[in-house]
Amino acid sequence: MHKQVLETAHGIATKYLDAVASRHAGGTATRAALIGALGGPLPSGASDPVHVLQQLAANANPGIVANAGPRYFGFVTGGAVPVTVAADWIASAWDQNSALYVQSPAAAVIEDVVSGWILELLDLPRTAGVGFVTGCHMANFTCLAAARHEVLRRVGWNVETHGLQKAPRVRVIAGAEVHITAVGALRYLGFGTEEIALIPVDDQGRMRADALDAALGKSDGPAIVCAQAGNVSTGACDPLEAIVRSAHARGAWVHVDGAFGLWAATVPELRSQVTGIEAADSWATDAHKWLNVPYDSGIAIVADAAPHRAAMSMKASYLERGDNEERIGMDWVPESSRRSRALPLYALFRSLGRDGIADIVRRNCALARRMADRLSKEPGITILNDVVLNQVLVRFKDEETTMRVIAAVQAEGTCWAGGAFWQNKQVMRVSVSNWSTTEEDIDRSADAMIGCFRVS
Ligand SMILES: Cc1ncc(COP(=O)(O)O)c(C=O)c1O
Repeated sequence: MHKQVLETAHGIATKYLDAVASRHAGGTATRAALIGALGGPLPSGASDPVHVLQQLAANANPGIVANAGPRYFGFVTGGAVPVTVAADWIASAWDQNSALYVQSPAAAVIEDVVSGWILELLDLPRTAGVGFVTGCHMANFTCLAAARHEVLRRVGWNVETHGLQKAPRVRVIAGAEVHITAVGALRYLGFGTEEIALIPVDDQGRMRADALDAALGKSDGPAIVCAQAGNVSTGACDPLEAIVRSAHARGAWVHVDGAFGLWAATVPELRSQVTGIEAADSWATDAHKWLNVPYDSGIAIVADAAPHRAAMSMKASYLERGDNEERIGMDWVPESSRRSRALPLYALFRSLGRDGIADIVRRNCALARRMADRLSKEPGITILNDVVLNQVLVRFKDEETTMRVIAAVQAEGTCWAGGAFWQNKQVMRVSVSNWSTTEEDIDRSADAMIGCFRVS
C-alpha cells in the first residue's frame, strides 16, 4: 500500500514543482473558500489514502503560496533545492527520532558530520556545540539560554537549579533594530522587554559600537549583548569586531542573530560584512532561508559547548545514553523527540559543496542589486537602503502610493513582496533568497512592480 500512496505524493509534488515558476506567486483563495474546500465534519470512518491525497492537493491548491518558486520575495524566504526536498521525504520515510543516539545512530552521526561541516563552512570554532532546531527563533532561544547559564555561572549562580527569581541581575543589551524573535527568546528566558537596553543604530540599522561601549560602561557584572548579522529589512550587519571587543573587555557574552546574514561568511568577497564574527560566543541562524532546505530548519551554535549542553540537557533513567562519544541530539536543543532535521542539510552539503552554497549567496546578492538598479531608474521610485546583501527596501513616491503598489503587486501575481516600516517610512521589502531565481525573474518582477506603480 505504501508504494501507491507515496507515488501519489511524488506525482503531486513533482507536478507542483514543475509549475511553481509559472503560478500566481501568492495565495489566491479566500479563507472562506479554503474552509469550504478543506473543512467539514471529522470523518468517522476510513477513506482511500490515494483519494485523500488527491483531494488534499486539489482543495489546498488555491491557498498554496509559491514561495518555493523563483519570484517570491516576501519576508526572508528560501526555496528548497530539490535534493533537500528528496532527503526530507526520506527523513519522513525513515521516521527517525533524533533525540537519543540509541534511537538512531545514523541520525546522530549525520548531525555530528553536518555540525562539523557548518563550523568549517562558517569558519567558527570547531569545538562549538551545534543544535538543529525549528528556526532562528528557537536558535536564538537556545543560544541565549546558554548565555544566561554562563554569565550567571561566572558569578556562582546555577540558573538551571536555582532559577532566575533570586539570581544576580543580568544586563541584556541589544541594538534598537534587534529582531523580534531575539526579544521573544529573551522573554521566554525570563527577561522582560523593558529590561532590554536598546542601543541606537545608524541609518542602515547597525548597532552603534560607540554607543554600546558607552552603555557597557565600567560594569563587568553578568551581561549579554545581542548583535545581529543581517538586519531583516536592510541586510546590514552590526560592527561585530568592535562589539565583541567592547563586550569581552567587560566579560559580557556576545550572541549574534545571523538568521540569513551569517551565510555572508561563506563568500570571500562578502566576508568583510561579518568581520569579527568568529570571536562571538553564540550564533543563531536558519537553514530554511539562505541554505534553501525545506522548513523547518534552524541552527544554534555555541562556541563553548559546556554552557550549551548545561542549558539544554535533561536526564531520566529511561532516556538511555551511551558513552560520551555518542551524540545525544536532545542535549543541544529545547526539544526531545524530533525528526532528523540534519538529513536535508547533509544532502545539500554533499550535493552542492562549499562552492555551490557560496554561489547561491553570491548570486542572490547580485540579483538584489539588479532589482535595486532597475527599480531606481524609474522616476518616483527610491531605494532606501544600501544593498549590501540580499535585501532591498523600495519606496514608491509616498506612503499611500507605496501601500497601493504593494497591494497591486500582490494581486497581480508575477511576484510577491510584502510591506514594512523602515525608519518611520512605509516601504516594500524585497528579499532575494531563492536558489532558483534568475536575472530574467528579477527583470520580469521589476517590470511588474513598475507597471503597478505607473497605474497607481
Ligand atoms: C535576523 C532574523 N532573526 C530571526 C528571524 C526568525 O527566523 P525564523 O522565522 O526562522 O524563526 C529572522 C526571520 O526573518 C531574521 O531575519
